[in-house]
Amino acid sequence: MSLKLIKNSITNIVHEDNLVIVEPVNLYECSFGRDVFIGPFVEIQSDVVIGNNVRIQSHTFVCQYVNIGNNSFVGHSVVFINDLFSSGSPARGDKNLWKSTFIGENVSIGSNATILPVKICNDVVIGAGAVVVKDITEPGVYVGNPARKIK
Ligand SMILES: CC(C)(COP(=O)(O)OP(=O)(O)OC[C@H]1O[C@@H](n2cnc3c(N)ncnc32)[C@H](O)[C@@H]1OP(=O)(O)O)[C@@H](O)C(=O)NCCC(=O)NCCS
Repeated sequence: MSLKLIKNSITNIVHEDNLVIVEPVNLYECSFGRDVFIGPFVEIQSDVVIGNNVRIQSHTFVCQYVNIGNNSFVGHSVVFINDLFSSGSPARGDKNLWKSTFIGENVSIGSNATILPVKICNDVVIGAGAVVVKDITEPGVYVGNPARKIK
């Protein structure tokens, strides 16, 4: 009976001044600008780039290939997705099938939102519980599943 225990950790991160992290977290091979807050129970995977003055609240999952712009806010339990199961099942580590997400500046993402691989422009609010399935190219407030502009 074998058991492989991988402890949560902070490994090979790059950051500028004033990074605040509330443990426990699992952060690896990602980068942070200045004045960034990372709440507890957050996982941020490799090749994630987070800008300046960004706040990521507890229990959020940021998968590989996500960029988050300056002055953005990510609420609690937000989930980013890079594997769309495009071949009919999980990519199971085949990174050729993983896609990127770009979050602009001054984007606020409400708690429990799910962000598929999309581009979101600057000055956007995503409501709590929204599921963003398409690029957002106009500033505004977006809610629901699939997320639609209400303001
Ligand atoms: C999206 C949001 C910003 C809109 O706030 P608002 O501008 O004050 O909007 P209103 O409350 O006037 O609601 C406008 C309409 O959108 C609906 N709505 C509001 N938030 C919604 C949401 N998250 N999902 C679905 N519909 C929503 C309202 O029911 C209302 O519909 P109606 O016109 O048919 O009655 C806000 O409701 C929200 O979800 N904020 C996220 C907060 C959050 O998660 N913070 C995390 C840190 S604690």
